[in-house]
Amino acid sequence: ELVKTEKYRPHIHFTPQEMWMNDPNGLVYFEGEYHLFYQYHPHSKKWGPMHWGHAVSKDLLKWEHLPIALYPDELGYIFSGSVVVDWEDTSGFFDGGHGLIAVFTHAKEELQRQSIAYSNDQGRTWKKYEGNPVIENPDIKDFRDPKVMWHEASSQWTMVLAAGKKVIFYTSPDLKSWSWASEFGEGWGAQVGTWECPDIFPLHHQTTGEQKWVLQIGIDAGGPAGGSGTQYFIGDFDGKTFSPEQRKNEIYWLDSGKDFYAAQSFSDVPDEQRIVLAWMSNWQYANEVPTHPWRSAMSIPRELSLQTINGKNRVIQTPVNTLEENKEPFHSLSSFELGQGEEVEFKQPRAPFRVMVEVEYDAGFEIQLFAGEDEKKFSIGLNEEEVYFERDFGEETPFSSDFTGRFHQHLLSSTNKAKLSILCDESSVEVFLNEGETTLTNLYLPVQKTEQQINMRSTDGKTLVHSIQIDQFNLNK
Ligand code: FRU
Repeated sequence: ELVKTEKYRPHIHFTPQEMWMNDPNGLVYFEGEYHLFYQYHPHSKKWGPMHWGHAVSKDLLKWEHLPIALYPDELGYIFSGSVVVDWEDTSGFFDGGHGLIAVFTHAKEELQRQSIAYSNDQGRTWKKYEGNPVIENPDIKDFRDPKVMWHEASSQWTMVLAAGKKVIFYTSPDLKSWSWASEFGEGWGAQVGTWECPDIFPLHHQTTGEQKWVLQIGIDAGGPAGGSGTQYFIGDFDGKTFSPEQRKNEIYWLDSGKDFYAAQSFSDVPDEQRIVLAWMSNWQYANEVPTHPWRSAMSIPRELSLQTINGKNRVIQTPVNTLEENKEPFHSLSSFELGQGEEVEFKQPRAPFRVMVEVEYDAGFEIQLFAGEDEKKFSIGLNEEEVYFERDFGEETPFSSDFTGRFHQHLLSSTNKAKLSILCDESSVEVFLNEGETTLTNLYLPVQKTEQQINMRSTDGKTLVHSIQIDQFNLNK
């Protein structure tokens, strides 16, 4: 069977059928389905009047597209926000039963306020609350992206909202009336851009089992590789106040690539799993990325946990485990040595695929993907202190000077041993380094050549390659 595929259309990453998409919104697991709502402009491939697009999935990989969930109205565009399950009918919208409530920003010109809508048919149709907005604007220009959760210990709803270069916490008994609880962030972490799309959730430490709270925040400029980026703080949270454990000027990046923004976690996932999805683009060039007839994709959903790295608690990430059920081995190899400057070449499978490599290197090791007869490729390298990536324009006309270049990130554990897991789709490369203590997520628009190649090279000193495993993914089995 011949399936006609559009150029650059990902297989295992969510894309809208057509037109513009940005942030994931309203991520929630409810009655057997994962819901993904998203910032959507149905009339253009560029950002514009925002709607909430909608899709559902049972495995977070195969998505069913549903009609638009929320349309702009007289209160403005529908900006980012979240969805919760109101199990106890605290809102009174569900006649003593339960249902879904969306909490989002209404944005009218410069005025941003928070509103709610409810659904009693698994998110298929929505009614906006007649008392909207539920939080008026307190004279703060950037005042948006409410993420709500039920805070068990204090038996109330808690909202985290982005406000300039800080976040504000609110609490509510019924999702309609909200009280200011506290603020966090002035002078903390990365302060270059505006803070957007905050989220807060508990995570367990992988070895000790201890629970900590993670406050995750997008910044629209000054990210780790320029432009949009996602930082996080680790600490404690009592339902009202967040108390960080890291130092004020310490910046923890959730991802060190260029294309991982507006990350949000799913509410209500069973077994306390914390799964995060991000918009795989960067405001520096999001409106120009040459894909047709859609624009933008989501990252692979990732499961988060905590681990101690170099004496500090850190978030670590792995692709959602349903991915493993869809893999087919392509090639594997064990133990060989590369001398100084020596290179090996492998045939690259068709996307989507994953390359897993374990190496011990003297001073420098590099992998090149989508390589071949021309010079175009995506490179990932390691030296004694850093991991770096470099991408070029493929066959596209350069659409933004911010897209290319080499970007570096300090290694969290400097051991000269590295485990790389690199997930490639038709137009993206996601690197999970050392069990996901560092990740690098990037778009890449490869040249469509007949034969793609993976090159591995010892760039400085020799490298011992302990193992290589290449898998392909097929969701249509
Ligand atoms: C982040 C963001 C949000 C806002 C939305 C508008 O990418 O700027 O702060 O709600 O996009 O589409």
